[in-house]
Amino acid sequence: MSVTASPAAVRSIYSSRSARDRAPRPRVVMTVRSSSTTLSAVPILTKLQRDCATPLPVLRHVADAMAADMRAGLEADGGSDLKMILSYVDALPTGNEKGLFYALDLGGTNFRVLRVQLGGKDERVVATEFEQVSIPHELMFGTSEELFDFIASGLANFAQKEGGKFNLPQGRTRELGFTFSFPVKQTSIDSGILIKWTKGFAVSGTAGKDVVVCLNEAMKRQELNMRVSALVNDTVGTLAGARYWDDDVMVAVILGTGTNACYVERVDAIPKLHGPNSTSGRTIVNTEWGAFSSGLPLTEFDREMDAESINPGEQIFEKTISGMYLGEIVRRVLIRMAEDTRLFGDSVPEKLQMPFSLRTPDICAMQQDCSRDFEIVGSILYNVAGVNSNSSARKIVIDVCDAIAKRGGRLAGAGIVRILQKMEEDSKGTVFGKRTVVAMDGGLYEHYPQYRRYLQDAVTELLGPEISKNIVIEHSKDGSGIGAALLAATNSMYGH
Ligand code: BGC
Repeated sequence: MSVTASPAAVRSIYSSRSARDRAPRPRVVMTVRSSSTTLSAVPILTKLQRDCATPLPVLRHVADAMAADMRAGLEADGGSDLKMILSYVDALPTGNEKGLFYALDLGGTNFRVLRVQLGGKDERVVATEFEQVSIPHELMFGTSEELFDFIASGLANFAQKEGGKFNLPQGRTRELGFTFSFPVKQTSIDSGILIKWTKGFAVSGTAGKDVVVCLNEAMKRQELNMRVSALVNDTVGTLAGARYWDDDVMVAVILGTGTNACYVERVDAIPKLHGPNSTSGRTIVNTEWGAFSSGLPLTEFDREMDAESINPGEQIFEKTISGMYLGEIVRRVLIRMAEDTRLFGDSVPEKLQMPFSLRTPDICAMQQDCSRDFEIVGSILYNVAGVNSNSSARKIVIDVCDAIAKRGGRLAGAGIVRILQKMEEDSKGTVFGKRTVVAMDGGLYEHYPQYRRYLQDAVTELLGPEISKNIVIEHSKDGSGIGAALLAATNSMYGH
């Protein structure tokens, strides 16, 4: 596979090491707080652990509330927190797809463009090439036109470099699968209205508009001859991409900056679906589970973070379990400890007071620290908060990280289980009686081993050892790009 990355390319937030991470370790890592100071933080920790706890009854309660929301969302639009968006994907890739297809993936602080040459059953993926471009921060708060112009120009640049193994038959228009990882009310396979932005985006003038029209207009301004053949959520792209290789894939989950899940649903289990039935009798439903909120074990820190967010009251499940928020919740707990117990000195460290200064990759790195004095924790606290800490304070910080990661992982596991159970309730034996694969993508899942373990534990506890043996959670890295290109092929105007 050849990989081309533009100079502006950035990697996942987990693998990119910022200047802060590279800063020298603190010279002084000696005790600056007495252990009695550290001890006084323990009640805050204990209360946090209690408020965050996810024993089986809590997980079951949350899972059942999610199932009720799923059914209500399938009943009618607006019926519940879970939008249960119809993807209009009823034909999944088969392996027969042939030709050159493009994909554009917009869902976070980077966008990715990709081209793939498909060779049918025998040759499968002949070649792929991609570029990743970081989106300037100001564009996340700018106008719709500015954002889409930026993206279309990146796409046009990329398309210009086509050559080698990539081959577009003469006279054909290039076709694109557009992965747009925000809640969209899909109106057909190649159109959909943005419901709202999530994950820190607040672009004006897009909500209520067809995002394919926005992209098409921007591509026209760039004089790029390309057509969107499929508009897909990243979960849907991941499911399609994974299904290309494995027929047992029934669910896809993203656990990254944001979170979401989709699954294969029977059309007769979707009362709100009117109009022509899919030929396969099945379709993919995008749950948009990030918006779920019932019965979650929330703490005062979650509530404060939500109240101060740009979308208060929204995306509560996402704010509890996804990568954009876990570090921030921990930061808020540490501030409380610093204020009430002087855990980091006489004043609350200024750097720590900056919202989102502690990132999920930081808390993940701190949890990997097995050294006797928790030196990595000490160095991250020093770099992030500018404080020296002793080993007992560091241990408390690790326990805070653990409480937040544990809740996130276990709740994600409960969500996955409930989707599987819902599918099984409606079609006995089709999910639990055989191997069933959950395709998983996202930096949080990929890079946070404790989170991953907590998720898996919850799945096993909820399903029991026998059934859970058949459930395979498979990491499907960056599958959504290829998946979107495959869906463009499946829905090609030239057939396939
Ligand atoms: C969006 C979803 C997306 C998820 C993962 C959420 O914020 O609402 O559409 O699938 O993030 O990227």
